Amino acid sequence: MDRVIIFDTTLRDGEQAAGGTLNIQEKLEIARQLERLGVDVIEAGFPISSPSDFEAVRLIANGVRTPIICALARAHPDDIDSAWGAIREAEHPRIHVFLSASDIHLVYQLKKSREQILQTSRDMVARARKYVDDVEFSPMDASRTEPEYIHQILEAVIDAGATTVNIPDTVGYAIPDEFGSLIEGIFQNVPNINQAIVSVHCHNDLGLAVANSLESLKRGARQVECTINGIGERAGNASLEEIVMAIKTRSDFFNLTTNINTRQIYKTSRLVSELTGFPVQPNKAIVGVNAFRHESGIHQDGVIKMPITYEIMDPRTVGIPASSLVLGKLSGRHAFKERLAELGYSLSDEDFNRAFSAFKELADKKKEITDRDIESLIAQELRTVLEVYHLDRVQVSCGDRGIPTAAVRLIAPDGQVLADAALGTGPIDAVYKAINRIVGVPNSLIEFSIKSVTEGIDAIGEVLIRIDSEGITYTGRGADTDIIVASARAYMNALNRLLAAKRSG
Ligand code: KIV
Ligand code: ZN
Repeated sequence: MDRVIIFDTTLRDGEQAAGGTLNIQEKLEIARQLERLGVDVIEAGFPISSPSDFEAVRLIANGVRTPIICALARAHPDDIDSAWGAIREAEHPRIHVFLSASDIHLVYQLKKSREQILQTSRDMVARARKYVDDVEFSPMDASRTEPEYIHQILEAVIDAGATTVNIPDTVGYAIPDEFGSLIEGIFQNVPNINQAIVSVHCHNDLGLAVANSLESLKRGARQVECTINGIGERAGNASLEEIVMAIKTRSDFFNLTTNINTRQIYKTSRLVSELTGFPVQPNKAIVGVNAFRHESGIHQDGVIKMPITYEIMDPRTVGIPASSLVLGKLSGRHAFKERLAELGYSLSDEDFNRAFSAFKELADKKKEITDRDIESLIAQELRTVLEVYHLDRVQVSCGDRGIPTAAVRLIAPDGQVLADAALGTGPIDAVYKAINRIVGVPNSLIEFSIKSVTEGIDAIGEVLIRIDSEGITYTGRGADTDIIVASARAYMNALNRLLAAKRSG
């Protein structure tokens, strides 16, 4: 069977999703998980776009050694030099150069002729090749470009040294059969195409990104660019988990394989959702909470008798824990450790001790602790590791008669204990105002949402917020059985990210 190269662009195109900013440590954490997932290429970022993106790519190149680490560059000398600067220490570095190819972009945006674009593409690939043997080139907006012109560009860039040529459906305009023909035409009309891997990069504006990617694989493409949970610019990119599981589940049809350890899919999806703040829709294929739930009596009956009646995949294959074992007040360290291991967590002794005492505290408030509770609890604990200010106490008084009032106590970076109080339109507003009086960083709240992690009156409430400071969005999450405490934690989490970003310049 042929192997498909999985090129993950969660940290580059995925991060381009509106409101999805990640800090450097979060990017590194995701890159490490992508390595465990077994992706072949990690597009770690766009180094010229900001000093912090450069630094994130550099850290990933230094710390994540198995996959190819790829940096994006426009077809511009400074971009290419910066991309190389960021990935030069990588075990397997790649530079990805892109330039618009469609007449729409050439006429209205770049104001350049086709000849100029052809020459620049060739020159910039040659420049990248001086640094590194692994160079990818993308003619942007390829699906709206005349195929004959794409053929010319590809022949020129392969001559100049491109080892992968990527065909982007930049605006998600393509229809599977048409996009497949474009790919087939490339194999038939580009004389030196056997010297490069053909890749595809599909956006989801018409909900066809995965279908277009799979059709391209049928027509000979052997690299597919995708993101975890399908996040990305506008409607997103092709979803990695859907492509990988389609190839695996229908290997009879595709006769293809990937290097992905599918048992890491669920964990990776949770991590990306957690750190970007983008929830996964319940009916999302493969990783949505309902993806393996059977509601109808007929289906339940069938699955109990023989899962294959209504399940085309075993949920364990994507890492959804099989056991419905529920922990509680009487569960000890050993049971908790085992459950964590089954969920794919391996914590240091110090982190484990913190997580265990948080678990015990939760078990006092909540009778049954499920896997989702444990995931939420671990995420909450990890969030507090990188704190600038620590939320020590929060107390509110509210109701339909009094004025909502909040008192908070924070521990400052130098260990000082700082307390203040404020009135608000509601208890959460009062808490946020009291925190602002201490931290004193201007920002505005642009999104607030709350959901319960599991069913039941004692469920953990998870709060997601986004704040804006000087045009940059910071996401925060917090969880607790008390939703006011969860809201305060989410706000502190977002503020701490803002403060850390300011500190690192
Ligand atoms: O969608 C697109 O065209 C891109 C390119 C940079 C490959 O993301
Ligand atoms: Zn894209």
